[in-house]
Amino acid sequence: MDDLKNKYLSEILSAQDETTLEAIRLQAVGKKGEVALKMRELGKMSPEERKVAGPALNALKDEINSALSAKKVALEDAALEARLADEWLDVTLPSRERPQGSIHPVSRVMEEISTIFADLGFAVAEGPQVEDDWHNFDALNIPPHHPARQEHDTFYMHRDASDERPPHVLRTHTSPVQIRSMLKQGAPLRVIAPGRVYRCDYDQTHTPMFHQIEGLALGKDISMANLKWVLEEFYTAFFGRPVKTRFRASHFPFTEPSAEVDVQCKWENGTVTVGEGDDWLEVLGSGMVHPNVLRSGGIDPNEYQGFAFGMGIDRLAMLKYGIPDLRAFFDSDLRWLKHYGFNPLVTPTLAGGIHG
Ligand code: PHE
Repeated sequence: MDDLKNKYLSEILSAQDETTLEAIRLQAVGKKGEVALKMRELGKMSPEERKVAGPALNALKDEINSALSAKKVALEDAALEARLADEWLDVTLPSRERPQGSIHPVSRVMEEISTIFADLGFAVAEGPQVEDDWHNFDALNIPPHHPARQEHDTFYMHRDASDERPPHVLRTHTSPVQIRSMLKQGAPLRVIAPGRVYRCDYDQTHTPMFHQIEGLALGKDISMANLKWVLEEFYTAFFGRPVKTRFRASHFPFTEPSAEVDVQCKWENGTVTVGEGDDWLEVLGSGMVHPNVLRSGGIDPNEYQGFAFGMGIDRLAMLKYGIPDLRAFFDSDLRWLKHYGFNPLVTPTLAGGIHG
């Protein structure tokens, strides 16, 4: 009996896992195990022998069972220890570096401009980039054979030769959003419309897609004086210093009178600084909204009047952030974006405020 006990206790002690332990359990104290077989032999014994052998067998069974459960607990503890050691996590390690994107200078400048005009009471309006030629031309007082249609180097959307409907175009300016805003909101009205525009043109200073921002303010007595004040406030806030403007008489079919606006600048070693010196740089087209345009927008020109302007955004970004080549803006070169892009977590605010 001691042999049996020593054999099983040492087997249990050296078991490495629960499967082995279970095999030992079946062999030793299972229903058909060795102890059970010995129990069966009790019947053949004399009562005296049985008195000794019976309790001894029971004691052996108990001893083996408690050795089994002690070993089971030990194995479970060891497994847990191993897992804890294995899945240990050092929360003090520095995090892995992930590449972070950046905001494109054009997007950044659009946000800056929208922020400034929001403070001047202008809401943001939008229109489609694939526009019908009524919104892009006719409604803006540019009739079908007007030379301005040629000047715009328009991209036409393809239609079947048999299709006689007027063509759709890629909008050549943001001015169609003037019409859409008037039809949607009526007067009085104060909106800006930033977005992409398209002209079939490509050289050092022109790309077939570029960005404009349209401005439109309508009221009972809005005048050119308001236009001049708004633009000077805008450029001063945008460039962070007082900027003089110069208005030159010009012509656009959709404004009367019309003016092109220059900002004061200085050229030095091939770079230009806005708000200094006595050179001038053209930055936008503007004027008082033509009565025909108001009518296209469903507004009575005898009741309302106002100003409109349109300016290129890309050029403003180049000027403000010293970016030399326009074409690089749209090459999607990640090195360029990393260099000229902006931290996405920093949002533009007005330094010092409009009147600061
Ligand atoms: N749409 C004109 C352009 O693209 C700019 C402009 C807008 C001029 C509004 C006057 C009024 O050149």
